[in-house]
Amino acid sequence: GKDGYRHYMEKELHEHPVAIGQTLQRITDPASKTITLPKMPFDPAQVPRVTITACGSAFYAGMVGRYWLESLARVPVEIDVASEMRYRDAPQPDKGVALLISQSGETADTLGVLRSLKKAGQSIVSVLNVEHSTMGRESDLVLGMVAGPEISVASTKAFTAQLSVLAALSIDFARARGTIDKTREESLTANLLDLPSRAAEVFTRVEAIQAMARVIAEARDVLYLGRGICTPIAYEGALKLKEISYIHAEAYAAGELKHGPISLIDRTVPVVAIAPSTILFDKTLSNLQEAKARGGRILAFTDAAGAKRLEGIAEHIVVLPDVDAFVAPILYAIPVQILAYEVALLKGTDVDQPRNLAKSVTVE
Ligand code: F6R
Repeated sequence: GKDGYRHYMEKELHEHPVAIGQTLQRITDPASKTITLPKMPFDPAQVPRVTITACGSAFYAGMVGRYWLESLARVPVEIDVASEMRYRDAPQPDKGVALLISQSGETADTLGVLRSLKKAGQSIVSVLNVEHSTMGRESDLVLGMVAGPEISVASTKAFTAQLSVLAALSIDFARARGTIDKTREESLTANLLDLPSRAAEVFTRVEAIQAMARVIAEARDVLYLGRGICTPIAYEGALKLKEISYIHAEAYAAGELKHGPISLIDRTVPVVAIAPSTILFDKTLSNLQEAKARGGRILAFTDAAGAKRLEGIAEHIVVLPDVDAFVAPILYAIPVQILAYEVALLKGTDVDQPRNLAKSVTVE
């Protein structure tokens, strides 16, 4: 049941901390602060390329995974949505690894890619919530999320669980490839292990998120911006808003703003920024100043240091706990999803069963 929550989605949003915690419990050792994933059915040091494929939110998780695998493990990554990857007929490298991400393990396009990349000689690793699924059975290795059942059509806790697995996998690859040392592995792992409590803190910010939601509920179009590893979180925010509130939203890498979408901006198009104060913060800040100068209403997710810099620029700020840039996308996904939920409540839509959507897309 819904355990007293109004919707499954609300319940499942509150399960983020547990989903992250249980997922990490299986694949980390808190005492030594190391990753304890199962042994890969290949040597990660010999992998020339990882090809990531998924659909929807799982694809955005994969985009974050690309940043981690590239920057930590120095492994080249190719990524595409499954419906495109399936028909690209792209060359696959010898000893390559295909990484499929799916909550259900049944998504037709993702399964189609799994089968074709297997035929092309790639090792198949799947990140799945439903491990006893078709994709689970056909994979060389299944990395389970431990998110528990997700009933709400819009994905919530599975997303942060996917990210937790991908973060651990990236550390594991980095260790095997000799691109991080023991101290770095411990500090990255410690950041992950700290996430469940940071994630729980997000729920003390719901009032600030509701203030943002009131601005968005009045809009017809919304722009989400991110940079670097938080760009996919902007995509996730825009997708979730579209799905459950039926408000049109687009997401862009903030640096792309001036290459087109800035022409959309006026008072009626709120701009939502995913902007933790990482090394890219100043660049995002200047993009937001540009948007503000054109009448845009800026709504920002940031931390205490970022909030200071955004004073006078952002109309609403949700101040999130300070976290390392490495785990910021996992933490920031939560308030971004809560925002979509709060807007849907204001719009009175059917949050758990949005029109035209199915939980598991088993046809092409
Ligand atoms: C978004 C959402 C969908 C799924 C996508 C993939 O809220 O739920 O975009 O993420 O359909 O589904 P799985 O992960 O089951 O392959």
